[in-house]
Amino acid sequence: MKTIIEPFRIKSVEPIRMTTRPEREALIRDCHYNLFALDADDVLIDLLTDSGTGAMSSEQWAAIMRGDESYAGSPSFHRFRDAVTALMPFRHIIPTHQGRAAEAILFSMFGGKGRVIPSNTHFDTTRGNIEASGAQAVDLVIDEGKDPASEHPFKGNMNIDKLEACLNEHGDAVPCVMLTITNNAGGGQPVSLENIQAVARTARAHGKPFFIDGCRFAENAWFIKCREPGQQDRSIPDIVRDCFAPADGMTMSAKKDAFGNIGGWLALNDDTLADTARAHLIRTEGFPTYGGLAGRDLDALAQGLSEIVDEDYLRYRIRTNEYIIERLDALGVPVVKPAGGHAVFVDARSWLSHIPPTEYPGQALAVALYEIAGVRSCEIGTVMFGRQPDGSEQPAAMDLVRLAFPRRTYTQSHADYIIEAFGELAEMRDSLTGYRIAWEPKLMRHFTCRFEPLS
Ligand code: F0G
Repeated sequence: MKTIIEPFRIKSVEPIRMTTRPEREALIRDCHYNLFALDADDVLIDLLTDSGTGAMSSEQWAAIMRGDESYAGSPSFHRFRDAVTALMPFRHIIPTHQGRAAEAILFSMFGGKGRVIPSNTHFDTTRGNIEASGAQAVDLVIDEGKDPASEHPFKGNMNIDKLEACLNEHGDAVPCVMLTITNNAGGGQPVSLENIQAVARTARAHGKPFFIDGCRFAENAWFIKCREPGQQDRSIPDIVRDCFAPADGMTMSAKKDAFGNIGGWLALNDDTLADTARAHLIRTEGFPTYGGLAGRDLDALAQGLSEIVDEDYLRYRIRTNEYIIERLDALGVPVVKPAGGHAVFVDARSWLSHIPPTEYPGQALAVALYEIAGVRSCEIGTVMFGRQPDGSEQPAAMDLVRLAFPRRTYTQSHADYIIEAFGELAEMRDSLTGYRIAWEPKLMRHFTCRFEPLS
C-alpha cells in the first residue's frame, strides 16, 4: 500500500471548539493581534509549538500509574535512566523539568564572561542561557542552511572550516562545542552522522568537550536513515547510539522526542562535572533521582523513549510534513525545503513581498491564517529578532512563519484543512497589510507585544 496512515487508533479525544471567521476576527483584535494572547480554546488547530503538546500513548498513561513518588531512589528514576542510556550511553543522567533547565546547569559550568560557544544554530533558550552567563553564542551552520530554497539533505550541518577557524581564533576562550539536532532555529533541518562525527573530531583535536542538544534526536536519526549513504539498512536505535557516541554529554527537552508533556535531562560522562551539576540540580530543581519531575513523569518518558524510535511512527511523522510542503509548493507558497522534522516553515517575506520586513510580513500571514481558518502558527522573523539592543529596528535574516506539529495529535484531514486555508490565502494575499508594534516590553517582545494593523 502506498498510503502512509497514522500508525495508531484514537482512544480518548479532546473536542475542538469550532469558531466562525467573524468571531476569530474579533478575538484576535481583542488580543492586539498577538497570537500568544489567544485562549487555546479559541484555536482550532494549534501549531504554535511541538513542545509538550503531543499525545501520550495508552502505555504511557499506564506508566503514569506505575510512577513511584519516593523522594530518593525511586524505581521510576531507574526505569527512566535505563531508557535514556539504552539510546544515549552517557555515564550520568540528570533529570530536569525541561530542556532549558539542563542548559542553565550546563552553562553555569561552561559559560562566563569572555567565553565563546559555537554551535550550528543555538536555540533561543540555549543562546539565552549562554548570554545570561556573559558568554557569546556563535552560529556556524553551513550556508545552505540559511537559504530557504536550497535542497541540501542536511541543512543543519555545522560548517567545519568555520568551526576550525573559531577554535583557532578564540582558543582558550572556547570552553566547549555544541550541536543542535535537528536544527530547530534553522527550520528543523537535520545534521548528518558524518557531520556529527566531524564536529566531534574537530572539538577533540582542540581538547574541547562536545555536547549535543538532542531535542529531536529521533527525527534526526530518521533523516540519516533516509538520506545518508550507507545508513538505509540500519535500525533507528543503532543510528541514535552512533550520533551520541562521540559526544561528552547532552541537553534534552523531553517535551519533543520523548513524547513527554514535560521533562528534560542533562547527560554527562565526566564524574567531576556531574558532581557539580548535581549540586546545582539539588539547589534549583530537586534531588538527583527526580530532578524537576514527578516519578510518574519519569515513567511516562521511559515509555515514550521506546516509542519514539519506532520506524512506522517516524515514517508517518516526516511524511506529514512532506505532504503539506508538496501541496503548499503546488499552490506557489514558498516553503523552506526540503521538509524538516517537526515543522513546516513558510517564507512570508517572499510570499508577501509587498509588505516590507519592518511591517512584519510573518505576523501579517500568521494573523490572516488564524482569521481565515483558526490555525495558530508562530512568526519567526523581524518581530522575534528585529529589536536591537540599542532599541532600533533591523529586519531579521528571514521572515518565516512556523507551523509546528504536535506529535500524534492531528490527522490527515487537519493537514488538508491547513492546505485549504493556504489556498484561500493565496487568493487574497495581495490585500494583506502589515502591522506596527504599538507597545513592547524590553526583552523577548514577541510573547507580549501589541500590534496595530497598518490598513
Ligand atoms: N533546544 C531546542 C532545539 C528546542 O527546540 C527547545 C525548545 C529547547 C532547547 C528548550 O527546551 O522548552 O523544554 O525548555 N523549543 C520549543 C519550540 C519551545 O517551540 O521550539 P524546553
